[in-house]
Amino acid sequence: MIEVNNVDIVCGLAWGDEAKGKIVGTLCQKNKYDFVCRWSGGSNAGHTIFVNGEKYDTHIVPCGVFYGITSVIGSDCLVNMNDLNSEIEYLRRAGFDTSVIKISPRAHVITSTHKDNDAKKYKTQQGSTGKGIAPCASDKYARVGTLFKDGCLDMFKENIWDEKLYGNVLCEGAQGFWLDINMGNYPFVTSSNTLPYSACSLGFPPQKIRNIYGAVKVYDTRVGVDPFFDDEEISNDDLEAFDKIAEVGNEVGTTTGRSRKVRWLNLDMLVKAINISGTNILVLSKMDVLEKVGVFGLKHDSTNTVLKYSDSSHMKKIINDVLLSHCSLLKEVIYSENPYTF
Ligand code: IMP
Ligand code: MG
Repeated sequence: MIEVNNVDIVCGLAWGDEAKGKIVGTLCQKNKYDFVCRWSGGSNAGHTIFVNGEKYDTHIVPCGVFYGITSVIGSDCLVNMNDLNSEIEYLRRAGFDTSVIKISPRAHVITSTHKDNDAKKYKTQQGSTGKGIAPCASDKYARVGTLFKDGCLDMFKENIWDEKLYGNVLCEGAQGFWLDINMGNYPFVTSSNTLPYSACSLGFPPQKIRNIYGAVKVYDTRVGVDPFFDDEEISNDDLEAFDKIAEVGNEVGTTTGRSRKVRWLNLDMLVKAINISGTNILVLSKMDVLEKVGVFGLKHDSTNTVLKYSDSSHMKKIINDVLLSHCSLLKEVIYSENPYTF
């Protein structure tokens, strides 16, 4: 019997939008994977990827579809048929082979009632994406939800896939560490497990995990409501710098079109996220944005003080020193300064 060989995982270490799509795309080209799988979340996610110079956005379909790799939406995912259909149509029109898209029969169906309830309650109170995530997850855990195999339309019957994974598997995380329902600033979180431990819900033993790629930007961003990101006690200079970073870094939500709030990278929180997720390869994106804006800041040492640096090489040295001395599993720190690859 063919077994799972190696599993690599890409996970977000912040509040989502850490360039996971770019990392998944690069790994698909570098390594030979038999599967690319999403283990959590739904179309609340927004992954941006450049393929042959063209920009594409996905929400629920794993980025393996761009490389002809079997792309599995796992049993812990929440799927709305209309959203899935529009995404498949978008990919088909763009010329990609959508027959590689597979869905677990045990994924849960997001109904239009879930979406309505999300819009009524969570969208305003918590700035949810309005995709029906929390109401669908409530039904799932109350054990009254609808499984994909029982609720899906005929048009998706061919996409249902209930086989075992084998060979080399890449797991594509959605959202990030601080949006995880157990780790984040509850209730300002999403309704899923965004950490690598949860990728095992796809059906492989944890011993098969090889590399965990943690994705983060060199500044923090947040869409949606979160008191942690209040504007109080931020200097006018910093607020001005954050506006510039948002503009240069194009910090606009892929799924909702909302602008993302910017803050200096909190290095203490990043250390925690690296250590708990088990990240051994860290990919830090967007130093090029700070370079264009010309301001380099960090938060560190549990104080609320912002440390400023004169240039990116100084800032990188501090980041590397702190992370490598506080994160025993971390083997490699990679800076990626373009939206295409790392
Ligand atoms: P929900 O997942 O739509 O219920 O939203 C819960 C919170 O997570 C809100 O603050 C959203 O803005 C945030 N969120 C959910 N998905 C993403 C994502 O993919 N990127 C960034 N933020 C997200
Ligand atoms: Mg995103």
